[in-house]
Amino acid sequence: MKRDFTKLLDITMDECLSLMERAKELKKMRKEGIEYQPLKGMYLAMIFEKASTRTRISFEVGMRDLGGHAVLLNRGDTQIGRGEPIEDTARVLSRYVDAIMVRTYGQEIVDDLAKWASVPVINGLTDLYHPCQILSDLFTIWEIKGDVKNHKISYIGDGNNIANSWIEAYLLLGFNFSIATPKGYEPLPYLLDLAKKNSNFKLFNDPFEAVKDADVINTDVWVSMGQEKEQDERRKAFTSYRIDEKLLKEAREDVIVLHCLPAHRGEEISGDVFERFQDVIFTQAENRLHVQKALLEWLILNR
Ligand code: CP
Ligand code: NVA
Repeated sequence: MKRDFTKLLDITMDECLSLMERAKELKKMRKEGIEYQPLKGMYLAMIFEKASTRTRISFEVGMRDLGGHAVLLNRGDTQIGRGEPIEDTARVLSRYVDAIMVRTYGQEIVDDLAKWASVPVINGLTDLYHPCQILSDLFTIWEIKGDVKNHKISYIGDGNNIANSWIEAYLLLGFNFSIATPKGYEPLPYLLDLAKKNSNFKLFNDPFEAVKDADVINTDVWVSMGQEKEQDERRKAFTSYRIDEKLLKEAREDVIVLHCLPAHRGEEISGDVFERFQDVIFTQAENRLHVQKALLEWLILNR
């Protein structure tokens, strides 16, 4: 049966750990220039209804690395933009390609594609989730710090797609996890209810409390794609949720800071902190490639 990756909880803890192991091998092979092309003659359709740099390039390069091809569909260039039903698009694409990656607004679009497509569907970001990003973030922590379960992770800022997928990662793997968001900007209530059942999950309003003794601090933009009209009120609401040197003093001395990018220096992260952790942050971006190759290989070849 085909598998999809519409959200992080579509996979099990064991599958997540296998993907980490495989990403490590694929990363090593690429660095050593070893050619590995199990997806020769196979195709990935990439549907983009929102902008992207990393997701677009990492999926396209990843597919080529594995011997396959990626076909780009921008909303405006397709019949999707003119209202062709998702169930028809899904069935048509399934006749041409071996997997579909989609970046869009509503999670229901990804879920409908997954329901109607006979090939695997991958969520490349929706308003609710960004599972490929958090899978790569977990890999980055695993590479730098070792087993994520032995560490305290903190997320500061908007309870958005990144925060929701981090809670799913917590529910999957069970590390020590704290979040701080302003009132009214919390992650999805049903995820919070699930997470709050465990004592190693905490939700705060105060970012200083959330980062106490953290090994890893994450953040994301205050204004996500599609929220541009709210930018003035959001900038006000999030002013005290910036990752800066003062906040980092509460964390462990060997803390690392992650940012999924694009970053807004002076908003969610100070320029100093960004530059101090730039190597980690760009490794995190690079790892999208290795982790998604592991995901593509698994989803396409195992169906
Ligand atoms: N982090 C991330 O998904 O980047 P893009 O929006 O550039 O794809
Ligand atoms: N929360 C951001 C993530 C960008 C990768 C957005 O949805 O725009």
